[in-house]
Amino acid sequence: MFELLKKVLAPIGPSGLEGPVAEVIREEIKDYVDTIEVDALGNLIATKLGKAENPRKVMLSAHMDHIGYIVTGVEKEGFLRVTNVGGIGMNNSYNRHVVFAGGVNGVVVAQPVAGQPALKDLFVDIGAADREDALKMVSLGDVCVYAGECFRLGEHRVAAPAMDDRCACALLVKLLQTVGDTQDTIIAVFSVQEEVGCRGAKVASFAKEPDIGIALDVTGWGDTPGVTQPEIKLGEGIGVKVMDRASISNPELREALMAAGEKAGVKTQREVLPYGGTDAGAMQTSRAGIPVCTLSVPCRYVHSACEVIDMRDMDAGLKLLQAYFA
Ligand code: CO
Ligand code: ZN
Repeated sequence: MFELLKKVLAPIGPSGLEGPVAEVIREEIKDYVDTIEVDALGNLIATKLGKAENPRKVMLSAHMDHIGYIVTGVEKEGFLRVTNVGGIGMNNSYNRHVVFAGGVNGVVVAQPVAGQPALKDLFVDIGAADREDALKMVSLGDVCVYAGECFRLGEHRVAAPAMDDRCACALLVKLLQTVGDTQDTIIAVFSVQEEVGCRGAKVASFAKEPDIGIALDVTGWGDTPGVTQPEIKLGEGIGVKVMDRASISNPELREALMAAGEKAGVKTQREVLPYGGTDAGAMQTSRAGIPVCTLSVPCRYVHSACEVIDMRDMDAGLKLLQAYFA
């Protein structure tokens, strides 16, 4: 799973520009599904037909997009002004290495101001001599993301930018590769634009009309100094969501997923998140409504340049889903 995760983490894919991620995923899944399509927004949708006479349609959604900084202006000295694409925090915007799709490197910096710097006080230094030089390297509207290789942390953990939500993309790829024949039809959606409001999952669930929707995403953590909420610990199993700010999980579906975890002999954690949301929020209110739940990979330092997960939780999530579809 680690090798696959590395592959899926590698492409640069900010919200709205997920194509390179979709290409990598398509190669990995093409021999394991019945159809693959890309819709108008760029969602990669793979369908694996169920063997039941009237199979249920279960949509699994993991988002490909990553938060970033979009260029809004170029100063005459060559510094780029930016704003956020998705949930960029100021804490993670001080002297960070960022990279554009074309490979241009930058450092995002906050200029000194009276009081707390805001997004408008950020600039990206790309080493340009002046505005003209900068515009040879980037254009207005180009987006950069946190740069960085993924690396191991201790025996079980891995850190990388874009772990939200490429780790769940890798999990979904692995499920398709290993699940074999199922009674249910699996609609695997590698979605776009989650970080700017779950737009990809919204249109995909409308188009595919699933009977059940399960989002695969990261969640927060409560196991580092000074952080106790949510009550989620890395390495203690896959999270099964009860609620976040965008969805309330269907109780029967939630319990069915918990039971599948028990059947598989893996650890699960009930997850109540007092902030945030996932593609489940978009699926839940699609058409006449869809029962949803989210399986969550516990993740420290979400939306930073070093998002940390535990591979044992990935394994728990995979085995739970295999048992759910068995
Ligand atoms: Co996110
Ligand atoms: Zn996410």
